[in-house]
Amino acid sequence: MNWQSDILTNLEWSGTIINLEGKQKVANEIATKVKDGDILGVGSGSTVYVALITIAKRIKEEGLKVKAIPTSIEISLFCAKLGIPLTTLFENKPDWLFDGADEVDPDKSLIKGRGGALFKEKLLISSSSKNYIIVDDSKLVKKLGTNFPVPIEIFPTALLHVEEELKKIGASELQLRPAKGKDGPIITENDNLILDARFHDIGKDMERAIKSITGVIESGLFINYNVEILMA
Ligand code: 5RP
Repeated sequence: MNWQSDILTNLEWSGTIINLEGKQKVANEIATKVKDGDILGVGSGSTVYVALITIAKRIKEEGLKVKAIPTSIEISLFCAKLGIPLTTLFENKPDWLFDGADEVDPDKSLIKGRGGALFKEKLLISSSSKNYIIVDDSKLVKKLGTNFPVPIEIFPTALLHVEEELKKIGASELQLRPAKGKDGPIITENDNLILDARFHDIGKDMERAIKSITGVIESGLFINYNVEILMA
């Protein structure tokens, strides 16, 4: 990186990092899994941020040739700051991936997408053969939907059609996610909107049912994906 950028130098995680000690412990474990030449899929969120710093330290100290495929602009910026080269899914398939989650049920199905990066997170998890999901106790639920709504990324002009169709499959509360740093709704990195939806019951076929609605880009339901859960 040959920019002399104060923005990058001063870039820090924007919110509070809950359970930093636990996240750091798993970050150390994740960092030991990195091998020279690895292509890493990098999820989004504070847990990923802590792990990324620890991995970057190992890469630097041992001169490892590692490349990252990020799931968000935020993680791309942190990779640039930490000196981790980026690559894309056009050039490389990830060897493995690490990410966080908002909820994990006993079958290891997940709700993700609080950070709004659910489309790329799902694309990367689907592209990678080994996936580590780092969570603490607070993320474990008996049933998906206990604490978090299901985020659904929607092509903007399809919003009202998707609303109608989601109600037909049991969505009881739908909220267009507002942006924090701009007026109006949040616009995702793919120029779409996010609806946060509550369902009375999230069955095994709900992910497929949501995805089959025209205008839905992706949902934050990850049912029966190939993931290993690491506890922070
Ligand atoms: C972002 C995500 C995150 O992985 C999830 O929100 C967990 O974040 P954190 O590690 O900050 O608790 O899905 O879209």
